Amino acid sequence: MHNIFKSDVSVYFDLFLVYIFIHLSVCSSIDDGNCIAPPLECPNKNITFWLYTRANRDKPHELKFSEPKSIDMAPWVPNAPIKIIIHGYTGDRNYSPNKEIRPAYLECCDYNIIAVDYNPIAREPCYVEAAFNTELIGKCSAQLIDEIVFNHGIDLSRIHVIGFSLGAHIGGFIASNIKSGRLERLTGLDPALPFFATVNVTRKIDPSDGKLVDILHTNALQKGKLEISGHVDFFANGGMTQPGCKADADLTKSGCEHARAPAYFAESITTQVGFYGTKCYSWIAYILGWCDIVGSDEDVLFGEYMPKNASGLYFFNTNAEPPYSRGRNNKTTSMII
Ligand SMILES: *[C@@H]1O[C@H](CO)[C@@H](O)[C@H](O)[C@H]1NC(C)=O
Ligand SMILES: *[C@@H]1O[C@H](CO)[C@@H](O)[C@H](O)[C@H]1NC(C)=O
Ligand SMILES: *[C@@H]1O[C@H](CO)[C@@H](O)[C@H](O)[C@H]1NC(C)=O
Ligand SMILES: *[C@@H]1O[C@H](CO)[C@@H](O)[C@H](O)[C@H]1NC(C)=O
Repeated sequence: MHNIFKSDVSVYFDLFLVYIFIHLSVCSSIDDGNCIAPPLECPNKNITFWLYTRANRDKPHELKFSEPKSIDMAPWVPNAPIKIIIHGYTGDRNYSPNKEIRPAYLECCDYNIIAVDYNPIAREPCYVEAAFNTELIGKCSAQLIDEIVFNHGIDLSRIHVIGFSLGAHIGGFIASNIKSGRLERLTGLDPALPFFATVNVTRKIDPSDGKLVDILHTNALQKGKLEISGHVDFFANGGMTQPGCKADADLTKSGCEHARAPAYFAESITTQVGFYGTKCYSWIAYILGWCDIVGSDEDVLFGEYMPKNASGLYFFNTNAEPPYSRGRNNKTTSMII
């Protein structure tokens, strides 16, 4: 019953905001001739895949579906996990979440990091087309994953897909297109809201997209979704706004709040302190302050090292500046009546 209430409210909010957004964005991009939405055909030269390891952290190796040698001769770290990182609108392989998460992984671990780069078809001011293109990018990324799994001896269970904003939904489209099995883990960092308030689960990130789908919300109802989208949904600082964010030369306030999602995830890879979320049954209950009363005292680590058996909604607070993590939540021990 709580679940029905919760999802009705968030779908309602989502639809309302999308309605406004469509009007704003269609009007602003309608007269731009450079916005493109290529046909659903893979490979596409505007969607590229770049492998980084400790041995080539500044010289990425391009993996090309149509050139098997580019995959065989890549500097793979044998048997190590493969992290596939997918940017959002206006991004590229050196932009969020790559610039936060790739260095954190390479500092921590001798991993294979693949950046998906689709910048030419996600440029400003073409949000409408970029959102539409997520299906194509998901399809082409699934094609590359299938190729390395079927023909290059890589086990699908080693692959973890991490998408930020539009990239989170691309993860959903990878899941709808992949033929080599079910994704082991899909992490959605503040999944984009505009155009993804659909009820059709093949067109957005949702729990059917992987064995484990974990989500972080940082700017819900603006750039990000409020809707529960994974097996586990974490809400940082309530999930809508973030402390210490204000508009500056590089980012709007909302842009800063959205970009905290990759920043917190990156910190989760290397921190000794950790972000611990406290479980509560709904976001509305959290906003109304009921979680202090009815919430459980179960706390769960957020991010890279999240326990695989966690499920449900978890809430944590952060510092306003790095390091953001605050460790275990102390509230519950003092709440014993
Ligand atoms: C690639 O992107 C460029 C720049 O946006 C565009 O002109 C071209 O048509 C695109 N090609 C394909 C195959 O998507
Ligand atoms: C959901 O989207 C998929 C892919 O675009 C489409 O094939 C399917 O018919 C849609 N399902 C519904 C119920 O609209
Ligand atoms: C997950 O498993 C661990 C150890 O197996 C256990 O201690 C913990 O309570 C479990 N957590 C959840 C959320 O089920
Ligand atoms: C818990 O208490 C410790 C020690 O007092 C403090 O450093 C930490 O920030 C607190 N955690 C939270 C989440 O407030």
